[in-house]
Amino acid sequence: MENFSIVLAVCRTAMQNPTDALKRHVDRLVKALEKQGDEDQAVSLAKLLTGIEQSGKIEPSRVILSRQALNGETMPLSIIPPVDRETGASLATVLLPSKLSDVEPPILNESLQAAIDSLADEWAHLDKLKLAGIRPPLNCLIFGAPGTGKTKLAHVVASRLSLPLVTARLDGLISSFLGTTARNIATLFEFANRYKCILLLDEFDAVAKIRDDPHEVGEIKRVVNTLLQCLDERSSTGFTIAITNHEQLLDSAIWRRFDARIFVPKPDVVSRNSIVHKYLEGIEATNVERDFLAWITDGYSGAEIEALCNALKRYQVMREQSDFSVMDALRLNVHLSADHVNSPRRKLFLSDHEDLARVLADDIDFNFRQDELAQLFHKDQSTISRWLKRGKAA
Ligand SMILES: Nc1ncnc2c1ncn2[C@@H]1O[C@H](COP(=O)(O)OP(=O)(O)OP(=O)(O)O)[C@@H](O)[C@H]1O
Ligand SMILES: [Mg+2]
Repeated sequence: MENFSIVLAVCRTAMQNPTDALKRHVDRLVKALEKQGDEDQAVSLAKLLTGIEQSGKIEPSRVILSRQALNGETMPLSIIPPVDRETGASLATVLLPSKLSDVEPPILNESLQAAIDSLADEWAHLDKLKLAGIRPPLNCLIFGAPGTGKTKLAHVVASRLSLPLVTARLDGLISSFLGTTARNIATLFEFANRYKCILLLDEFDAVAKIRDDPHEVGEIKRVVNTLLQCLDERSSTGFTIAITNHEQLLDSAIWRRFDARIFVPKPDVVSRNSIVHKYLEGIEATNVERDFLAWITDGYSGAEIEALCNALKRYQVMREQSDFSVMDALRLNVHLSADHVNSPRRKLFLSDHEDLARVLADDIDFNFRQDELAQLFHKDQSTISRWLKRGKAA
């Protein structure tokens, strides 16, 4: 495309306040560029959609100023995380910023992305807020269904702030030796408080789950109390992110400790479109097939869409190029992942093509045209037109 650099600059400026309509137009432009073989231009533009450009949004100097406002020492490169005294098992893993720099941000629904950006921005302006006498929330709870990108999100925040990420797997801390759990938690927080870092408490509900054990009432109280105390002590000094899939299991006292609580939902239609685009790279698929994948993955998590795209890639490799059809491969995959996602769209896909075509033609998000449906179902347009008319008559 001629003058692409100008078009890209216009899109980048416009995408600073992205609306659904704008994203769809940019997406259409990406597809058009792909169609005419301008792959590099399509990739540059697609990056605006996937938010890849956003990961580097906070300027380095800002990050340094914010880090100076944090308590603690700078973590040495050769740091060894604390261990369980009895077993010698590590209580945490440490990821230094250099290891986090290539983490790709999950593709999130627009309003959620804006909320995360605003929190990360506050964290990056810690010095400024402190100077103004304002205490920003330093801890945040992320919750939502499995595979929605929660852990990835924590990694992205750490990468944006250029801080080491100290990750505790609480199920590991707790499961083996209940008697030492409280001490392990205290040791872990002590370690995190000593350095400028983000403490990540992944699978946080493990703390709540031990409540189910009737023999351990005293120990559980001790563990929860230690945790509350540690969270309180840390709340004014260091960043803490806790993640859970089972927020309903969390003790209300723990829940209240988190000023920011972020729900990560399953991706909406715009995000599904971008996720399909991202993970389908390298697959021979038409635009309408990609749109259909975004349609049928309603109710899927990001991880499930990724798994589906990987399965399609496998089918493509296993078959001769000419023999590969996204729809056929998708049908195999729906059978092979029968228990994964129980969605009406998958059921419809496996049943009647005519019904499916009618639903697709009426879908308010996609409004599949007759020529697109003809391409999708490998039929001619008159057949599709007959199907749609038959539906109207019935
Ligand atoms: N919104 C998304 N956009 C792009 N990729 C995603 C998204 N959500 C998940 N993924 C993919 O799925 C993988 C798993 O995501 P992640 O581990 O962050 O999910 P999670 O919510 O922490 O899951 P769990 O609750 O099972 O721990 C990611 O590494 C990424 O490849
Ligand atoms: Mg996770």
